[in-house]
Amino acid sequence: MYSDKVMDHFENPRNVGELADASGSGTVGNAKCGDIMKMDIKVEDDIITDVKFKTFGCCAAVATSSMATEMIKGKTVSDALALTNRAVAEALDGLPPVKMHCSILAEEAIHAALEDYQKKHPQG
Ligand code: FES
Repeated sequence: MYSDKVMDHFENPRNVGELADASGSGTVGNAKCGDIMKMDIKVEDDIITDVKFKTFGCCAAVATSSMATEMIKGKTVSDALALTNRAVAEALDGLPPVKMHCSILAEEAIHAALEDYQKKHPQG
């Protein structure tokens, strides 16, 4: 049912935990299943230098969050905002269609954390 990459990120998730000195944090719930995800990001000079997540989500939620955190690390805030759940699922060699909704959790949590960062650091 799951690709090798999904299983790898599920069994060895990258960037799990919390950041004590986060620049922004976001917590979101998945409307379809009720699972929850928290994302902390650290931003320096518009670059995401660190990111950690915690989730009560399923295997697909853990794997997509792990992959998404790897994909936004080192990116600018606007590049990270442009990352879609579809791109993350593709990077994992796909997800079963019934599990696509799980990948939305990571995308929404990243957006919530970045919006929190932008609110705390208004430009100009
Ligand atoms: Fe809830 Fe996958 S079933 S995130």
